[in-house]
Amino acid sequence: MPTTTFHPDGAALLCDAVPLSDIARAEGTPVYVYSAAAIDRAYAAVDAAFASYPHRLHYALKANSTLAIACRLRRLGSGIDANSVGEIEVALRAGFAPDDIVFTGVGKRDDELERAITLGVHAVNAESRGEIDRIAGMSHARGLRARVALRINPDVDAGSHPYITTGVGSSKFGVPFAQAAALCHEIAANPALHLVGLHAHVGSQILKVEPLQRAAGMLVRLACGLRDAGIVIEHVDVGGGVGIPYDGGPGLSLDAYAAGILSVVRPSGLALLLEPGRVIMAPAGVLLTRVVDIKSRASGADLAVVDAGMTELIRPALYGAYHRIDPIVRRPGGDHLYEIVGPLCETSDTFGKARPMPPLEVGDVLAVRDAGAYGSVMASNYNRRPFAPEMLVEGGCWRTIRRRQTIDELMNLEQ
Ligand code: LLP
Repeated sequence: MPTTTFHPDGAALLCDAVPLSDIARAEGTPVYVYSAAAIDRAYAAVDAAFASYPHRLHYALKANSTLAIACRLRRLGSGIDANSVGEIEVALRAGFAPDDIVFTGVGKRDDELERAITLGVHAVNAESRGEIDRIAGMSHARGLRARVALRINPDVDAGSHPYITTGVGSSKFGVPFAQAAALCHEIAANPALHLVGLHAHVGSQILKVEPLQRAAGMLVRLACGLRDAGIVIEHVDVGGGVGIPYDGGPGLSLDAYAAGILSVVRPSGLALLLEPGRVIMAPAGVLLTRVVDIKSRASGADLAVVDAGMTELIRPALYGAYHRIDPIVRRPGGDHLYEIVGPLCETSDTFGKARPMPPLEVGDVLAVRDAGAYGSVMASNYNRRPFAPEMLVEGGCWRTIRRRQTIDELMNLEQ
């Protein structure tokens, strides 16, 4: 994975050729900055890793669903994995056709299923017997034949943070493998349903091939058993989950990932769907935030209080996630230890503890790295803080793809 997107030029940190200090000065902080070139390269790298086999990437829109990002993924040739009717509508407005969309998600409401079925999405990744019955009822009532893939819970521990591990038997996702074959037979026997695929997504920020490969192998085994029984499906969908090196290390090799998945999928001849999110968007983005106060402490790291917090990027507070943090202009001088904290009234509102940094002063801007996925999409208005704007750097300049929310907009739903 290329690591050249955010790179120093002397004391200044650039996004491609653009100094981040120019963006912070013109747009204010906090602000998200994404590199178009990095998105394109990451998409191409995942796609190329699977080039030897029929496949399609369905970008997981939940990672970053800003319209301009969705449009860009469409132009790159991606499909979409949507997890709500809101994400389906974003995908449609970005120009995706219904057949480009797979619809996943535990707890889909009737109105969401109806929208997906009447549009005719590529597959509804069905989560349970109850959901299958609801899909069948709606589909039958409209004289349609809904394209359904069954989401399997393979009971595979992906070894990620427990909050984002989804494939263990005790998790809320999918149907147990032991019940899957019987359910597939029922789906196949129902004229209102068309069983097109099998799906599994075992978690996110996964750094080992083995659990991803094991889950894919179970899908293939099930598909082959169905084929022997005369039920022929079109695809296996192995979900997303590829982790990125938040510490700047080597991370999970895309070639090793592809080799692991393809070694089990290739013999089946089934089309392969993948739902990458983080690996495409996380490294392409930074969150710029300005130091608003420095508090020195008698012992331990000094506090650098910044103007972004868990409202803009909740990953550190929610998962204890590590993000590299760099000043966008390095002052001369040796490193000090700083604890980088946000402005919210929560002790968990901390971006990093004991971070070695050159001397910081009030007004300095820091870049929180690898924030392009699960950053802006998970933002909140807690403490009545407006949503931060988002900028896309392309061809040596930047443009606003989402402007900063105003206080009026923050309040205009209220009576
Ligand atoms: N497919 C399904 C069905 C998913 O639930 C997800 C992510 C993906 C694909 C994409 O996974 P990825 O390639 O991005 O790992 N907020 C958390 C991550 C939650 C992931 C949820 N599902 C975080 O900030 O780490």
